[in-house]
Amino acid sequence: MSRNAIAARITKEYHRIEKGLALPEPKPGFAQPVIDWLLAEVPAYERGGRDYISDGARAAVGDWVGFHDRIGAAVRPEIRSFAQGSDNFEGGVKTLTRDEILAAAMIDFDRFAKMRHSIRQFTGAPVPEAAIARAVETALKTPRVCNRESRRVRVAFDPAVRAKMLGYQNGNRGFGHLAGAVAMITVDLAAFTDFGERNQGWIDGGMFAMSLVNALHAQGLGTCMLNSATIGWRDAKMRAALGVPDNEIVITFLAVGQIPDRVAVAVSPAPRAGEVLTVMA
Ligand SMILES: Cc1cc2nc3c(=O)[nH]c(=O)nc-3n(C[C@H](O)[C@H](O)[C@H](O)COP(=O)(O)O)c2cc1C
Repeated sequence: MSRNAIAARITKEYHRIEKGLALPEPKPGFAQPVIDWLLAEVPAYERGGRDYISDGARAAVGDWVGFHDRIGAAVRPEIRSFAQGSDNFEGGVKTLTRDEILAAAMIDFDRFAKMRHSIRQFTGAPVPEAAIARAVETALKTPRVCNRESRRVRVAFDPAVRAKMLGYQNGNRGFGHLAGAVAMITVDLAAFTDFGERNQGWIDGGMFAMSLVNALHAQGLGTCMLNSATIGWRDAKMRAALGVPDNEIVITFLAVGQIPDRVAVAVSPAPRAGEVLTVMA
């Protein structure tokens, strides 16, 4: 298994602890087999370097220990020592107030979302690398299954590399060359663990792609998703040319550019809620 695959398994397991502690009434003694597994796997993983995943695992166990101390339940010494020093690590559970959540969430999202359009005219001016990095960081907050990280972004600013990427995409004629950046969003299938998850990558990747678009929109940049739907031999050619390994699926390309002062956008009519919404009871 690749390090990514092991990281995903560690995340999937320690996330059971975080989730359990975030329930209205955590069950005393829950997740013991998970903790035993982490006690064996995390130190082995850390031999390749500590990171937010191993720290997150230790922090979750640390909060599990804290919960059991608060309710006066016994904690095995090896669990306690595994969690030793994890207080400063990011992970486990935190408490928010409703006010805090509302203070950040009460933006006019309806207006924000409805003023986002796929932009197919860019000025041709550059897109700063920092803007892409910032948007990626925001988009990484998008929900993902069991908190496992599978999403990847490749981005090109150089006109020749942008053109090379767009050469493998079928829907950018007439405007792709004016984008300041071209991104490709992929998902590493190593994060997924069984047959039931065979389509999960498309979901996690698609949701991430949308958040990335919103994060760029929030910075005043124009975007247009560019489909990666293709047939086998073209996909193979693209992978070889762009260095996409077999363990990654290509979710979508994305053109990012500066918006002109006046811009025509496709209306792309959408149905009213009642046409897609079924109330079950
Ligand atoms: C995965 C995906 C792939 C897309 N591919 C293309 C494309 O290749 N070329 C293009 O001009 N627009 C593409 N679009 C943009 C859609 O046409 C557009 O999102 C849709 O019409 C809704 O319009 P809006 O984004 O302006 O709200 C794509 C959108 C998605 C979600």
